[in-house]
Amino acid sequence: MHDAPIVIFDSGLGGTSILREIIIRLPSENIIYLADSINAPYGEKPKSEIIRLSQKNTDLALQFGAKIIVVACNTATTNAIYVLRKTYNVPFVGIEPAIKPAALNTKTKRIGILATKGTLSSELFQHTSQTFAKDTKVVEVIGKNIVEAVESGTLDNPIFIESLKKQVQIFIDENIDVLVLGCTHYPYIIPILKQLLPETIKIIDSGYAVAKQTENVLKAKNLKNTSEKIGSLKIFTNKLNQSIIQKLNPNFDLENIIFKEF
Ligand code: DGL
Repeated sequence: MHDAPIVIFDSGLGGTSILREIIIRLPSENIIYLADSINAPYGEKPKSEIIRLSQKNTDLALQFGAKIIVVACNTATTNAIYVLRKTYNVPFVGIEPAIKPAALNTKTKRIGILATKGTLSSELFQHTSQTFAKDTKVVEVIGKNIVEAVESGTLDNPIFIESLKKQVQIFIDENIDVLVLGCTHYPYIIPILKQLLPETIKIIDSGYAVAKQTENVLKAKNLKNTSEKIGSLKIFTNKLNQSIIQKLNPNFDLENIIFKEF
């Protein structure tokens, strides 16, 4: 069982921002990543569809013999992880917007969150926000066309950058000092956000925390791979976007990025 893979899934390429952190933290683990790019974006879909797609990805993860499943998608976590946990007998680690650390770090008592419609409208997000940011103003912005730009490898398109500039202007107007990235696709726009936003706004992305939590669960369940060898990595994508994946993550070997219908 220690050799069994950690399976990570996302609506597409966003979760590779989590995958990078897991590889750094858990180098001996065998890892399989499932990019459901053909169904991206999840963020605009109804909850029932997000649950259905999350179950489909989980079924495939279990066919691969997953010892743990990382739902590397805020939209799937906030809408579907409670169903997954009830339905399947395998440990799940999810990711949800880092509202709590943001509320603890803000000095202006004004934080921003950029996430998908599905995440911001979920009960889990609303509950977290009301619980941990009671005395803080939370400025919510639904990201438009950001997932699409990551998926199509067009982050450097000036029209996209202009649209992003308009989307984030409200964070400046509202004088926030901490911005939560509530979608795993968004760490890929951090270099652009740093140019568009003042340095006084701290950006929080939770990839590191998810990797740490994955390690904690593996240890607690005695599932951690203790081998000295470097583990294997396979990325399965159901869209022909291998070169885009490699452009986002030049360290990934093209031969490990495999097209598969699922
Ligand atoms: N990467 C996902 C997230 O963290 C989903 C984006 C999407 O497919 O809309 O929310």
